[in-house]
Amino acid sequence: MATNGEGEQNLRHQEVGHKSLLQSDALYQYILETSVYPREPEAMKELREVTAKHPWNIMTTSADEGQFLNMLLKLINAKNTMEIGVYTGYSLLATALALPDDGKILAMDINRENFEIGLPIIEKAGVAHKIDFREGPALPALDQMIEDGKHHGSFDFIFVDADKDNYINYHKRLIDLVKVGGLIGYDNTLWNGSVVAPPDAPMRKYVRYYRDFVLELNKALAADPRIEICMLPVGDGITLCRRVC
Ligand SMILES: C[S@@+](CC[C@H](N)C(=O)[O-])C[C@H]1O[C@@H](n2cnc3c(N)ncnc32)[C@H](O)[C@@H]1O
Repeated sequence: MATNGEGEQNLRHQEVGHKSLLQSDALYQYILETSVYPREPEAMKELREVTAKHPWNIMTTSADEGQFLNMLLKLINAKNTMEIGVYTGYSLLATALALPDDGKILAMDINRENFEIGLPIIEKAGVAHKIDFREGPALPALDQMIEDGKHHGSFDFIFVDADKDNYINYHKRLIDLVKVGGLIGYDNTLWNGSVVAPPDAPMRKYVRYYRDFVLELNKALAADPRIEICMLPVGDGITLCRRVC
């Protein structure tokens, strides 16, 4: 049992721990410059720089999250994976580089044009053969896979980074497609920090629109007994869900 002194110290630790989570832009820059950029594979750097010139570059996965995904996939020895929401392919490339040579990524996006911006870089990196890109909305494709019956419990890892208003609908299907012990990663679960903003706080229109969906998802994941969860303040927040039954 903690003595009063230990109790006080725990409280202080909690406080320090809390405040040390990206308390400033300078701290984030420090992470990028000290740990991420020096170890970023050349192809990812090239793709990041090409994407930075694209008008929708705000959508790209951040470099620290790319590094996180790459290590996570190696740690779990992922082989069969899925990505919903590709854009120019930064997280896709982080995934492809982490998988073994016979690894697979089923990658879905409604927009092939943006994927084609990154594709030459992915090809040059020698990992394009791992990618099966399908253009179109993900939800009907998932329904088709469930109906086929061939894909139940077959994915080691699924990364969801697309239309936030459908995350709950994705979850209803993905829980069936991920294997027991496998992971689903939902991106943007802290949604620009708006999850804790008062309803009348000034927010960009799209942030406000998707906010309630993200809040609803976070509640649903926390209450789902089929998964263990861990919400990480990496990038814009990523919630890892490990299927347990
Ligand atoms: C945030 S971006 C993905 C970023 C990407 N993971 C990266 O590393 O750059 C979201 C993507 O989801 C796609 N998207 C939106 N609705 C979709 C849907 N219903 N099905 C599949 N993809 C969709 C968009 O076209 C967009 O490319």
